[in-house]
Amino acid sequence: MISIERLEKSPFLKRVIWLEETGSTNTFARESAAEIVETPTLVGAESQLAGRGRNQHQWVSRSGALTFSLVIRPGESGIRLSQWPILSITAGLAVCKTLEKFAPTKQVQLKWPNDVYLNGRKVCGILNESIPEYPDKLVVGVGINVNNSMLDGPEELRQSATALIDHADAAIHRTDVLLEFLEVFHEELTALSENEQLIIQHCRERCFLTGKMLTLQDVQSQVTGMCQGIDDDGALRLMTGSGPMNFISGQIIHFD
Ligand code: BTN
Repeated sequence: MISIERLEKSPFLKRVIWLEETGSTNTFARESAAEIVETPTLVGAESQLAGRGRNQHQWVSRSGALTFSLVIRPGESGIRLSQWPILSITAGLAVCKTLEKFAPTKQVQLKWPNDVYLNGRKVCGILNESIPEYPDKLVVGVGINVNNSMLDGPEELRQSATALIDHADAAIHRTDVLLEFLEVFHEELTALSENEQLIIQHCRERCFLTGKMLTLQDVQSQVTGMCQGIDDDGALRLMTGSGPMNFISGQIIHFD
């Protein structure tokens, strides 16, 4: 059970909305943007019936997962509009640092732009969305596999996904994970406004794709190359047949 009482004590949050069931916490947050005046507001749900992932994918998670969206005003933390694209990897970095605390001996990595991998398998997905009517607000949607173990799932899923509980020695409380994330993300928002390169450096150190051959789907085309890591502006750097190329956005459709 999530402890709303404990969440309400988070120094980062102005408001907590915790739902038993909703379609998608991101959709709820966007549709309620007019009433969500105080930021950051947390919108969480025990169960999502129509969870959404990036690129129109579905996000399906069983009971025990942690699914929430944060409505933030990046400007309140001193973040400039030009830094908004870096907020994806910043949220991913906050999840990495959170999971490192709960599984200290395991490998936690950031799969650019905003997935988190635990020992080589996806443990978290992040969907950041702007709200056209409220251009100063951003919805940061996070789904972390915490207690929804993959060990009894189908083989195909076990190969690609994992959950924190599958790597931990003791029981894990989702409230603890969420409070840790909120604290780290709060610190990182401040750090991003003051020392962007520190955030980029921490992301670079955890880059899952570095040294891997991959294919990236850009707006117009597909590009294949060897990943050389995350550049100073947060872009993914690929060595392609036509030389080095940087991508500020895109979808990784294949990696070795
Ligand atoms: C992805 O891996 O493509 C991103 C998945 C994001 C899932 C989270 S769960 C909470 C929030 N609400 C949603 O509908 N999606 C995000």
